[in-house]
Amino acid sequence: MTTSSTQVIILYFSRGGATQRLADAIAEGVTAAGGEALLRTVNSDADAASARDMVIERDELTRCDALLLGSPTRFGHMASALQKFWESTSNDWLKGVLINKPGAVFTSTSSLHGGQETTLLSLALPLLHHGMLLTGVPYSQPSVHGRDGGGSPYGASFLNDRTSLTSSEQQTAFALGRRVCQIATACRHATIED
Ligand SMILES: Cc1cc2nc3c(=O)[nH]c(=O)nc-3n(C[C@H](O)[C@H](O)[C@H](O)COP(=O)(O)O)c2cc1C
Repeated sequence: MTTSSTQVIILYFSRGGATQRLADAIAEGVTAAGGEALLRTVNSDADAASARDMVIERDELTRCDALLLGSPTRFGHMASALQKFWESTSNDWLKGVLINKPGAVFTSTSSLHGGQETTLLSLALPLLHHGMLLTGVPYSQPSVHGRDGGGSPYGASFLNDRTSLTSSEQQTAFALGRRVCQIATACRHATIED
């Protein structure tokens, strides 16, 4: 890395804006930890909420220090636009450009038991295949104990039955961004042998 601040990509898709709210809360956490939050999306319809942000450029995977991946839950799984993106990263996988970089995941659903955890795990899979260091939210974060919406040790989440995040959802997303950035900053100065 040639830049001085820790570069954290927040790569997400959001049609209606719910997942985007989580992405923005995560970005606040990254910034609070002294990092630079790079909100990025993938090719999709121009009227998707996430079209607000730039489409990720391939060399950004190489240049970043960490990456968070977020999607609305689609039948218990990540949205196809994101899956399509990861299926285009074979060359990056061969080069190992994400190996030993912290990664984390986030999602939103319209129903409480509609698959937040399965989607979070589906989002984790490509990050693990790319050799990333999967980061969750520990139970030392009080908001993970919340009983009124999203947020879990697997990642940040939002129960989209209202217009804004609950306080717990906001705090968990913020904590995840802050934690990933702090770990990424530490990893930049660490030597991890194969
Ligand atoms: C094709 C499709 C499949 C969906 N599947 C689920 C689901 O399995 N569980 C659920 O709770 N919500 C499901 N939803 C609802 C979205 O996950 C939810 O509205 C989400 O908050 C939208 O996020 P966005 O505003 O970022 O696009 C689905 C929506 C669509 C369009």
